[in-house]
Amino acid sequence: MTRSPNSSTLDFPAYRNQIAGVDVAKLAQDFGTPTYVYDLNLIAHRISELESFDVIRYAQKANSTLAVLDFVRQHGVKVDAVSAGEIVRAMKVGYRPGQENHDIVYTADIFDRAAIEMVVAHDIHCNMGSPDMIDQYGERMPDRPITLRINPGFGHGHSQKTNTGGPQSKHGIWHEQVGECFARAERYGLTISGLHMHIGSGTDFEHLSQVCDSMETLAREHHAPIKTISAGGGLPIAYEPNQEAIDLERYYDLWNGTRQRLQNELGHSIELEIEPGRYLVAESGFLLTEIRAIKEMGDNKFYLVDAGFNNLARPILYGAHHPISIGSSSQSEPSHYQDVIVGGPLCESGDIFTQEEGGFVTSRRLPKAAIGDLLILERAGAYGFVMSSNYNSKPFAAEVVIREGQSHLARKRQSDDDILRGEEIPW
Ligand code: LLP
Repeated sequence: MTRSPNSSTLDFPAYRNQIAGVDVAKLAQDFGTPTYVYDLNLIAHRISELESFDVIRYAQKANSTLAVLDFVRQHGVKVDAVSAGEIVRAMKVGYRPGQENHDIVYTADIFDRAAIEMVVAHDIHCNMGSPDMIDQYGERMPDRPITLRINPGFGHGHSQKTNTGGPQSKHGIWHEQVGECFARAERYGLTISGLHMHIGSGTDFEHLSQVCDSMETLAREHHAPIKTISAGGGLPIAYEPNQEAIDLERYYDLWNGTRQRLQNELGHSIELEIEPGRYLVAESGFLLTEIRAIKEMGDNKFYLVDAGFNNLARPILYGAHHPISIGSSSQSEPSHYQDVIVGGPLCESGDIFTQEEGGFVTSRRLPKAAIGDLLILERAGAYGFVMSSNYNSKPFAAEVVIREGQSHLARKRQSDDDILRGEEIPW
């Protein structure tokens, strides 16, 4: 691993002895398995690549662990929150609430009761994804700026479940209702200070230019005196060796063009925001596991590890591909490879990390390994830990961050007491 990587220089190793300069065997020994390990240098590097945008707003839904969030804050990145809990996390690491700098923005399609109380109590800027939100907010917090998250009528995503635009998506304000939303806002003295579109992840530039056009047209049609436009999130990363890194310059140029044309028409400056989650943290995360059983079923060979979809749900949910490496293998000769299926400990047949969308089990060519060897699920820093569950009463994994070559515990593995907390037998 290089010290200052870009997407094309990050590799997909079959063996991995170190993460960010720390021995994987030592990490397993010090913190146990399964453990998520994050390389913070890599996050810093990804942030620096996006510096041409006026505002980088981290979509913390990808990874809201306090140590990660605080690190991102220290690097000048603002934050997005989608729930009361994410606002609490943002404030906990020192993001300031209030309307002054919009350090924290609440973006969602509803206010649940906890969220509306939280945004009111701390005067958090809101990015509205439904017309009803405007009324619910306006009644409590009139005379403030708000932004609108718009569904332009089409979308894009790596799977049906992550496509966030078009008529089948629940996200955002339908583009034909934007005019009505301006009128609603006016009733409460709310001003629309910005427009936002997030339509899922992908590198399809033709599609992206349609999104930019749509943003421009809407701003023009409604004579919106906007001060910000947000490109949303969705910057992709390579999960497989054949996937290309995104052309960030081209991405920026498209959005910057939209911004500049709108600036010229409106005669005032407009800030360009980007709202990445995955791009900042995915590659930084490694889920360290131990191989606990190796078995043959007919012609198939299985490595069964101590992490399951309770720890990393992306494969079972989306058929997502994560690179896999073997750490400190007892037989590290590259000629010794075999096709294996990698599964976890859960009492459910879908608990397989090597599967395609639809649940079709596949195998992966991996180095031969032995019981006790470490197996590392890579590029798991985004939508990994945050989507954990306690299924089968399994504890959440520990989390470790590596900063300047030093490893630090960021979250303890859950204890039995943590798992039982809050439960009562009511008789
Ligand atoms: N902004 C908004 C409004 C979003 O809805 C999302 C993601 C993002 C930003 C960040 O998107 P990113 O840059 O991370 O692609 N669990 C799925 C991803 C769900 C994304 C939901 N919204 C996965 O594991 O792929």
